[in-house]
Amino acid sequence: MNSKDSDEKLQLRILIAYYTRTGNTEIFAKQIKKMVGGDLFRIEEVNKYPPSYQEVLKVSKVEIDNNIKPPIKSFVENIGQYNVIFVGTPNWYGTMVPPVATFLDAHDLSEKIIIPFATHGGGGEQRCLTDIKQMSSQTTVLEGIVFYGSQAESSRERIVTWLKRLQIFDK
Ligand SMILES: Cc1cc2nc3c(=O)[nH]c(=O)nc-3n(C[C@H](O)[C@H](O)[C@H](O)COP(=O)(O)O)c2cc1C
Repeated sequence: MNSKDSDEKLQLRILIAYYTRTGNTEIFAKQIKKMVGGDLFRIEEVNKYPPSYQEVLKVSKVEIDNNIKPPIKSFVENIGQYNVIFVGTPNWYGTMVPPVATFLDAHDLSEKIIIPFATHGGGGEQRCLTDIKQMSSQTTVLEGIVFYGSQAESSRERIVTWLKRLQIFDK
């Protein structure tokens, strides 16, 4: 694939959808946008998680344990115009945050190319990328990437190497 216009190559129409609570995953989403272009879409829950870390741990554990997909504030109306969708999530309890599961469930992503990415607080990838892949069974899911949350800003070279490997970025 190549992001430059070309008759032979697929023209990329990129959406970068992400959830962030404390900003790490957003930094990463914005870095990807800087490199490959496309549109950013922030996934937000309708009923805000409590500001206290201890409280959000409790609320989200109930959701994750029970596979609850909380309502999200908005949807991508024109999802049909995109063919490549980056999906970004923080690692919560080893998996994607519940609003990202809602996002994946709510949109028709068949015939898209999904590229997952995640940030974590020390636990690493765990099931973040594989769970996104599993929920996107109708689609092509490319190799994802995971970063320690607070290092997102200094990870440009890793991101470039990853995107080049996917042939999404050729500068
Ligand atoms: C409810 C909750 C659960 C979390 N669970 C994990 C975990 O299991 N493993 C881990 O490495 N980090 C965990 N974290 C830390 C976040 O993944 C990490 O801080 C992430 O970079 C936050 O992204 P954000 O700033 O975009 O919200 C958790 C954070 C929260 C709030």
